[in-house]
Amino acid sequence: MTEGSTGIFRLGDKPVRRIGYGAMQLAGPGVFGPPKDHGSALAILREAVALGVNHIDTSDFYGPHVTNRLIHEALHPYPDELVIVTKVGAVRGADASWNPAQSPAELTRAVHDNLRNLGVDVLDAVNLRVMGNIHAPSSGSIAAQFTALAELQRQGLIRHLGLSNVTSAQVAEARTIAPVVCVQNNYNVVHREDDALVDELTAAGIAYVPFFPLGGFTPLQSDRLNRVAAKLEAKPMQVALAWLLARSPNILLIPGTSSRAHLRENLAAASLAIPDHVLAELESIDKQAS
Ligand SMILES: NC(=O)c1ccc[n+]([C@@H]2O[C@H](COP(=O)([O-])OP(=O)(O)OC[C@H]3O[C@@H](n4cnc5c(N)ncnc54)[C@H](OP(=O)(O)O)[C@@H]3O)[C@@H](O)[C@H]2O)c1
Repeated sequence: MTEGSTGIFRLGDKPVRRIGYGAMQLAGPGVFGPPKDHGSALAILREAVALGVNHIDTSDFYGPHVTNRLIHEALHPYPDELVIVTKVGAVRGADASWNPAQSPAELTRAVHDNLRNLGVDVLDAVNLRVMGNIHAPSSGSIAAQFTALAELQRQGLIRHLGLSNVTSAQVAEARTIAPVVCVQNNYNVVHREDDALVDELTAAGIAYVPFFPLGGFTPLQSDRLNRVAAKLEAKPMQVALAWLLARSPNILLIPGTSSRAHLRENLAAASLAIPDHVLAELESIDKQAS
């Protein structure tokens, strides 16, 4: 993967390639417990970095603690150019449930858990994961939570702050408290609720990092995507990623996979050019029966 083929975008002070890696799929089933195969989880992380990935997304609530410890075991001491973005705002129940943990004390504990499990003195970037609704933003002030993280940033524990699962109004509110370098929301070629927010963040120079870029736990299935992929002699998932790269220059990708073959396919999407008329064909994929 070369910078020429993927382009780069700045996450705060750090340039990253536009295709990174999302580590969530490395934990056990339901993002709970250890991976199926510890050795192959380490191998995927090492191969990602060897192939040029310099942006990894994680959280201490994946596992919990599992993906951060795998990243530490596979990659520490970290290459200078690697940016690890984590998120706080939830804890896991013993039954694998995802529970909000948004008080200042819980956020502080989560930051310290991430520091310890990743083995760093400062976290490159921390997203406040808002938990109102599990996969879609809901309105309401996030000032108390974001102020708590801004305080940890002032203490030198966090380099950059971001947000996840938020509305445009919440982004604006957070920016009155501290700079926001990235926003991570649910978005892909089929799921386009955030179109207006993507455009707003492009104008503001803030990275938009879609979660579920390939559809998440139920990967995208679309006849139209399959047809386009066949025409371009590519895989449907590569078309879905290339569409996101073409959508806006501030979109950074963190596709998740537990498969080295899929990792290579996903990184190769950087060099898949989609002609304009094909982009137009994909444009309305969310509005019509696929
Ligand atoms: N902020 C948030 O609230 C939030 C929420 C969810 C996720 N995230 C982050 O976003 C990252 C991406 O999301 P995600 O992993 O949930 O979903 P995703 O990237 O949309 O899709 C992952 C799924 O697609 C499959 N897949 C990946 N590459 C493929 C390929 N080339 N061909 C066919 N199938 C492929 C994976 O299975 P295989 O393992 O078999 O490849 C997995 O089932 C996560 O890893 C995590 O870091 C953030």
